[in-house]
Order: sequence, then structure tokens, then C-alpha cells
Amino acid sequence: MKTGLASLLVAFFLLLSVAGAEISSKVGVCYGQLGNNLPSPSQSVKLIQSLKAKRVKIYDANPEILKSLKNTDIQVSIMVPNEIINNISATPSLGDQWVRNNVLPYIPETKIRYLLVGNEILSLPDKLTWSNLVPAMRIIKNSLRAHGVRKVKVGTPLAMDVLQSSFPPSNGTFRSDVSDSVMRPMLQFLNRTKSFFFLDVYTFFPWSSEPTNIKLDYALLEAKNITYTDPITNLTYTNLFDQMVDAVIFAMKRLGYPNIRVFIAETGWPNGGDYDQIGVNIYNAATYNRNIVRKLTTKPAIGTPARPGWVLPSFIFALYNENQKPGPGTERHFGLLYPNGSNVYEIDLSGIEPEKEYEPLPKPTNNEPYKGKIWCVVAKGANRTALASALSYACSQGNGTCNPIQPGKHCSKPDSLVWHASYAFSSYWSQFKKIGGTCYFDGLATQTIKDPSYGSCQFPSVTL
Ligand SMILES: *[C@@H]1O[C@H](CO)[C@@H](O)[C@H](O)[C@H]1NC(C)=O
Ligand SMILES: *[C@@H]1O[C@H](CO)[C@@H](O)[C@H](O)[C@H]1NC(C)=O
Ligand SMILES: *[C@@H]1O[C@H](CO)[C@@H](O)[C@H](O)[C@H]1NC(C)=O
Ligand SMILES: *[C@@H]1O[C@H](CO)[C@@H](O)[C@H](O)[C@H]1NC(C)=O
Ligand SMILES: *[C@@H]1O[C@H](CO)[C@@H](O)[C@H](O)[C@H]1NC(C)=O
Ligand SMILES: *[C@@H]1O[C@H](CO)[C@@H](O)[C@H](O)[C@H]1NC(C)=O
Ligand SMILES: *[C@@H]1O[C@H](CO)[C@@H](O)[C@H](O)[C@H]1NC(C)=O
Ligand SMILES: *[C@@H]1O[C@H](CO)[C@@H](O)[C@H](O)[C@H]1NC(C)=O
Repeated sequence: MKTGLASLLVAFFLLLSVAGAEISSKVGVCYGQLGNNLPSPSQSVKLIQSLKAKRVKIYDANPEILKSLKNTDIQVSIMVPNEIINNISATPSLGDQWVRNNVLPYIPETKIRYLLVGNEILSLPDKLTWSNLVPAMRIIKNSLRAHGVRKVKVGTPLAMDVLQSSFPPSNGTFRSDVSDSVMRPMLQFLNRTKSFFFLDVYTFFPWSSEPTNIKLDYALLEAKNITYTDPITNLTYTNLFDQMVDAVIFAMKRLGYPNIRVFIAETGWPNGGDYDQIGVNIYNAATYNRNIVRKLTTKPAIGTPARPGWVLPSFIFALYNENQKPGPGTERHFGLLYPNGSNVYEIDLSGIEPEKEYEPLPKPTNNEPYKGKIWCVVAKGANRTALASALSYACSQGNGTCNPIQPGKHCSKPDSLVWHASYAFSSYWSQFKKIGGTCYFDGLATQTIKDPSYGSCQFPSVTL
């Protein structure tokens, strides 16, 4: 009897300590705010709860949002903006001030659990910030400690381009320009503080740049009969996500850190985009996100081939379609929700909803590359003042970009700002697309496959 009780107690304490160290597999959502039409923070918190997200990541420390999250059970990740990393590194008291202003007033009612220093810093050109990143992380951690805040892990999200080699996964290697100078001290910091390697993983990007070499189903975690076996480790992969995560795990191992946990800081798939983008639709977005949520919430944890059974905590990108994100159309179409709060497609981030309960999805129409002509014209509702400056900018670029809309030339009529700007955008884009020029102009421009040409005026186009 006595021994029975004693071993029961031992088992109980073991359970307790394991549970204490255990990180939950719950899925969260990234709450980006780059839209001029988004619901308020308090409405957003309700929407986050309706998605059954148990975590939320914001890209700053917005006071309204942090207040709205008070007394909810949602775990929160906040972010030190990129712009002040150099300042904090140079002046540690600024780091302490940041913690005092942006963390202390909200805890413990707001469950701040992760503090990310900058966003994808090693993907940006500013090398000064690279060298100040780890010092700033240490300063923030020390400040939290000095204030007795122990529940907050400090990290920094990195994108896959931090690797110079990711294939086969066992060949994963950090870029030589950051490996010794930044990654080594960073891994030492993450290991010592028992924090995470926060990783942004999008299978969409490698797939869309090589859609013939990589099978779509393999990128969507939908493949039933496609596997890849790493020739060095003999580990067998059934999806691209696992391959990408393991490449980072092998890169860490190569630097002598085999046990740092990975936190998926962003993952997702765009529900829409431009005509020149492949596979960007609601069907694929719903398929990817539902599959990844199922994988990440399965109990016991699945992990990856290199780390079977390890929990991968995660955030799905993103809560909303954000209409003010620059770049290609996909950037504005990662949302689980439209800005009016309605679902782009049904999803349950707790992973509980059985697949068969979902309504059928619209069939994908752009899983093959678009073939034909595309023009770049003025978007609906474009601001006239901004349009006039965009017109003169486009005309100042390239060779004879706006000659045909000069007075008396064959595209000058009708003499309207929208007509001239549409011509200028098409003319600009037809010259610059091949070197990375976009049809965006701060949201004033959009792609069309309907030829805007009129009368004798032919609009220049891009042909795919
Ligand atoms: C950070 O440093 C830059 C350059 O020294 C300065 O212009 C800026 O005002 C500083 N920002 C803060 C928040 O201290
Ligand atoms: C492994 O990575 C190195 C660079 O780190 C690269 O040169 C080599 O080609 C890669 N090996 C394979 C088989 O891809
Ligand atoms: C990483 O942390 C573990 C556990 O604290 C420790 O045993 C190990 O020595 C650390 N690794 C390195 C390379 O510092
Ligand atoms: C794999 O499955 C897909 C669809 O499920 C099918 O079209 C394809 O033929 C299969 N390939 C092989 C090699 O069995
Ligand atoms: C991988 O498999 C091959 C062939 O079965 C075997 O020779 C090799 O030792 C294995 N490598 C590892 C790392 O298990
Ligand atoms: C919300 O916006 C989407 C996309 O614009 C639209 O299809 C949907 O009908 C809207 N829902 C409501 C309730 O207004
Ligand atoms: C239109 O754009 C101009 C210049 O870019 C800006 O100053 C103005 O506030 C904008 N107007 C509206 C209604 O957004
Ligand atoms: C403009 O013309 C010059 C000379 O023909 C050429 O080198 C340059 O690439 C052209 N620029 C564009 C944007 O096509």
C-alpha cells in the first residue's frame, strides 16, 4: 500500500513536471494589420475565438489589441519593430523601456508568451541590423528577467532563405554570410534560454517557382503515393513541409545544436492573387491549411521524419486578407477571413471539425500556369491625386513609355486620367516585368486579361 502510494506520487510529480515543460500543439493565427478596412481589435478577438485559435501573433505591441486580449485564454506573441533593433543594441536602456511600455502593463491579464525581436531580419538587406539582432534579443531577455517575467520566450522569426542549402534535407546549411556571425550566437542564446527557432515555412513558394518538378499534392500535404527518401539519412518524406522544416533542423545540428525546438511562426497558402501567379485559389488554400492544422494538432504529436513525435507549435498566416500589403497579389490574399469578417472558406484551427462537415470548395482554375496576354490597368476606386503621381512616375521610367498618350498621338484620346494611367501602367509593366517590375503602384494598378485597347490604340501587354 505504502509503496503503491509512493509510486503513485512519483508518477504524479513526473506527470506534473512533464506537463509543465510540455508545449502545447495548439494552432494560432497571425493577426496582421496592413489593411484600411479591417475590423476593430475587439471584434477581431471575437473572430479569432470563432476560428478556435488558441494563440495569436501580432507584428507590434498594439495597445488596443493587447487590451482586447485581456482575460482571454489566447496566448499572445508580440514583436519589437525592426526599426529599433539597432537602437536597442546600442542603448540597452531602450530595450528595458520597450519592455516596460509594451509588456509589463498588460501581464498577466494578457497572456504574453512570446516576444519576437524583428521580423525576418536576415532576409532584409540591412546588414547592420543582422549584427545587432542577437545583442538586442539578449537585452530584451535580460530586461524581462530583471522584471521577474519568466513565462515569455524571446526569439526572432526567420524565413527559409536563411539556408543556403535545403536539399536533400540532411544537407540543410545556414547561409555562409550569417552562419558564424549571427546563427551561431543566436542558437546559443535560444538553447540557453530554452526558447524556439521561430520559422516561417511556405511550401507555396518553392512549389510555385518549380511547379513541374514539385507535385502540387506534395506541397499541399495531400499526396497519397509520392515519397522522397533522403539518400544520406534514409528518412522518407511524404510532404514538402516536413522536408523544409527538417532542412532547418539539420542546419542547426550542423552547428552543434540538435535539440532546439522549432516553432512555426508563419505558414499558409494564398486564396487568390494575380493572373501571372499559379495555384493561388480558395481550393488550395483551404486544402493546405486544413491539412497542416490536422497534422499539427494530431495527438500524440506527429513531428517530422527527423524528429518524430515532437510538438510543432504554430501560427497560420493570416487572419485577414490585408489590402495594403505591397508586392504581388498573393500578399493581399493569405487571409482565413475577408475584411468584413466572413470566412474565405471554413476552417477550424482546433483541428476537431471532421473534413466531411465542410461545404464543397470552388474548383481550382489556376493550377496550371496562365497562357496568354495580360495588361496592367487602373484599379477600381483608385485615389485620383495618387494616380496622377503614379502616372508621371511610370512615364519617367523605361523607353518612350508614354509617347503614344502625348497630345495628338494615337492613344491620347479619351483625354482622361484613368485612360492615360492605364496605358502608362501597361506600357511600364510590359517593359519591366522581366526584371521584377510589378503591376501594383501602391494598389492603384491591377492585372486584367481583358484587352483594354480601343480604336487604333493598342495597349502594350505581357505575354505568358
Ligand atoms: C533610433 O536611432 C535612429 C538613428 O540613430 C534615430 O533616428 C531614431 O530616432 C531612434 N529611434 C528611437 C525610437 O530611439
Ligand atoms: C549540399 O549543400 C551544398 C552547399 O551547402 C551544395 O553545394 C551541394 O550541392 C548540396 N548537395 C546536394 C546534393 O544538393
Ligand atoms: C544546449 O542546452 C542543453 C540543455 O540545457 C545543454 O545540455 C547543451 O550543452 C547545450 N548545447 C550547447 C551546444 O550549448
Ligand atoms: C498517385 O495518385 C494520383 C491521384 O491520387 C494518381 O493520379 C497517380 O496516377 C498516382 N501515381 C502513382 C505512381 O501511382
Ligand atoms: C541507408 O540505407 C542503405 C541501404 O539500405 C544502407 O546501406 C545505409 O547504411 C543506410 N544509411 C543509414 C544512415 O541508415
Ligand atoms: C464579405 O466580403 C466577401 C468578399 O468581398 C463577399 O464575398 C461576402 O459576400 C461579404 N460578406 C458579407 C456578409 O458581407
Ligand atoms: C489620395 O492621395 C493623396 C496623395 O497620395 C493623399 O494625400 C490623400 O490623403 C488621398 N486621399 C484619400 C481619400 O485617401
Ligand atoms: C531602353 O533602351 C536601352 C537601349 O536600347 C536598353 O538598353 C534598355 O534595356 C531599355 N530599357 C528597358 C526598360 O527596356
